[in-house]
Amino acid sequence: MAMTDRKFYQLSVPERIDQLIAEGGLSAEDGAFLHVGNGLTVTLADSMSENTIGVYGLPLGVAQNFIVNGRPVLIPMAIEEPSVVAAASNGARLVAKNGGFSAEADPPHMIGQIQLMHVLDYEAAVERLEQEKEKIFELIRTLHPTLVKLGGGPVELYSKWFPQSSAGPMMIVYLVLDVRDAMGANAINTTLENISPLVEELSGGEARLRVLSNFSDRRMARASCSLSADTLAMQDYSGEEVITRILEAAAFADADPYRAVTHNKGVMNGIDAVMLATGNDWRAVEAGAHAWAARAGRIAPLTSWKKDAQGNLIGKIELPLAAGIIGGATAVHPLAALSLRMLKVKSAVELAEVTACVGLAQNLAALRSLATEGIQKGHMALHARQVAIAAGAKDDQIEKVADIMRKEKKIRLEFAKEILKRYGTVDS
Ligand code: MEV
Repeated sequence: MAMTDRKFYQLSVPERIDQLIAEGGLSAEDGAFLHVGNGLTVTLADSMSENTIGVYGLPLGVAQNFIVNGRPVLIPMAIEEPSVVAAASNGARLVAKNGGFSAEADPPHMIGQIQLMHVLDYEAAVERLEQEKEKIFELIRTLHPTLVKLGGGPVELYSKWFPQSSAGPMMIVYLVLDVRDAMGANAINTTLENISPLVEELSGGEARLRVLSNFSDRRMARASCSLSADTLAMQDYSGEEVITRILEAAAFADADPYRAVTHNKGVMNGIDAVMLATGNDWRAVEAGAHAWAARAGRIAPLTSWKKDAQGNLIGKIELPLAAGIIGGATAVHPLAALSLRMLKVKSAVELAEVTACVGLAQNLAALRSLATEGIQKGHMALHARQVAIAAGAKDDQIEKVADIMRKEKKIRLEFAKEILKRYGTVDS
């Protein structure tokens, strides 16, 4: 069978790489790098973290069918969980039939905080900081000339007063910094440490913590999609029925925090995988997303699903998304750099837009399956390979054992072991 007669997921790993090169998704150089099975070396890993003794690998997959603001995008995803890449591709395929996703994101504004103790007169401190704001901003600009040249730099400075904290009254100074294409943790932390003596002098307080906030609600990403009923139809369900069931699933997440958490976990399956693939701090994105979801004092879903007057399903997602395309692991990890080249995003803002779409696609695919035939059929079929490996299958035994388990509808460790024992090499 010719390579092009088969779907991407049906190809072997080398064939997938070759297809991406042939279609212009990967450069020949990046393809050659992947063909050799290259990734992070122990030497590089040792320079990234402490006490390194090895490299912990994860599968790097490519989600297909994404169209974001009219542009087809290949989505690199690093994740160990079966079904996630398939679900993202599946959700995106449905959206692509309807023209693709629309997405937008705020400018890359990171928030940093300086905690000040022993401020005797809060009102006076606020006034002095306001009067001398330009001086603080000028200091920041001299610290980051390149950032300023690229259009970034200080945006805003404001304060809050917590008179009754358990440690006594404290003043918190907030700095909003435009970090352009970086995630910005280093830029903001360096800035805060450098401006804190001046801030102490102006406020009369003593600086304690000087660190970014991971609640990056000045850096939100939003995506939406509209799907006609006919594109959502399934073998045993009409499109209208699928829409009704997705709306019921969304209402469940609205009503019940126990469901909302799982709903959001599915969204983050997609978002984290892109963050990991691109060398971004996925823990920061997770922390911000869950804080945003709980902003009303109760956990709420990160996505919303509605039906419009024409009967189309309208999906939306909004979450803080502090992700960069320069600096940190994006520059060091060869596969992160390769993933960013594959995404062809031109800015951190564009990366945030695309990533929000992956979260929405993931949620669409999950809700459509959960609300109809359930997820276990598809999931267990993919899971079979992992069970086969856990039972001791090696090389081409893996697919053979998995295949027998799928056919007999018994995807269990004991059964995989029994198959291996029964058939020896599993060739018979
Ligand atoms: C599994 O990793 C994610 C799901 O549980 C998400 C969801 O329930 O919406 C399938």
